[in-house]
Amino acid sequence: MSKPRVLSGIQPSGKLHIGNLVGALQNWVRLQEQYECYYFIADWHALTSQYADTSALKEWVKDVVVNCLASGLDPDKATIFQQSHVLEHAELHVLLSMITPLGWLERVPTYKEKQEQVADKDLHTYGFLGYPLLQSADILIYRAQYVPVGVDQVPHLEITREIGRRFNNFYGEVFPEPDALLTKFPKVPGTDGRKMSKTYNNCIYLSDSPQEVEHKVKTMMTDPQRIKRTDKGDPELSPVYQLHKIFSTKEEQEEVAEGCRTAGIGCIDCKKILIKNLLKVLEPIWEKRTYYLEKPDLLEDIISAGSGKAGKTASETMSQVRKAMNLDGLR
Ligand code: TRP
Repeated sequence: MSKPRVLSGIQPSGKLHIGNLVGALQNWVRLQEQYECYYFIADWHALTSQYADTSALKEWVKDVVVNCLASGLDPDKATIFQQSHVLEHAELHVLLSMITPLGWLERVPTYKEKQEQVADKDLHTYGFLGYPLLQSADILIYRAQYVPVGVDQVPHLEITREIGRRFNNFYGEVFPEPDALLTKFPKVPGTDGRKMSKTYNNCIYLSDSPQEVEHKVKTMMTDPQRIKRTDKGDPELSPVYQLHKIFSTKEEQEEVAEGCRTAGIGCIDCKKILIKNLLKVLEPIWEKRTYYLEKPDLLEDIISAGSGKAGKTASETMSQVRKAMNLDGLR
């Protein structure tokens, strides 16, 4: 029996951080054991907002590939590829664009939100409006059953299902309906307590050195009420404690929470435990990063083999799509 198919993508719009690790990559690694997984670097999606300056794009794509491999994705288990190397995504995107009402795209909540939030870029472009449709093409072209994503992506999954249904209504059953596999994970706070995001400059990157990680945690915000060592604190108000909940053992979590409430331990000691645990998770990743960074040819081979494999599946779907739409030759 064949395994259910999973597909997910990640945008190479900057260096990856520990939020991406626990929110996406670790989940992808678990899924590769049970499902037929397709994971890709969504470089065209990155262009929908970062079109004006592509000078760092290659570096970011490489950073994502290296981090995927270093976090445990295995090219023998999962198909790892680059979106722009599988041209069929673009073909399906253009065909789907013919049947997509503008209102559906304009109504996607991320459209107006991001246009308003991102002040330094002009997002009044055709490509940006079409972002969710390109994502629909990514998903439908593999006839994926499950799409592991965060809650922010649910509207994109919804439009994917609607577009797939509309296609099937016009041209006959080609696309199954995909479901989101919601990644249940606490929001990873950044060093300032806000959501970890490169726009806030509060990230712990997978490419940071041990010294940088140590420095970032040592200067992290804690419970703002706890100023002196003898002040009692509330762990729930400290982003350091939120990270303990992700990276420390239950015993350690209890120990630091109790110590915070009673002023039994200081913030420095609490942070030292977190640093130790972060290093434990990051050290094997750093080791593998170094390994892969020294082998550009191997990275190239992995991506080109993965893109070839993905392309095969994608072109099978496209044959069906062309046939369904009467684009398959004259006879
Ligand atoms: N939009 C997704 C994100 O920002 C990335 C993405 C592009 C994606 N295409 C996809 C995710 C297809 C899942 C499936 O996280």
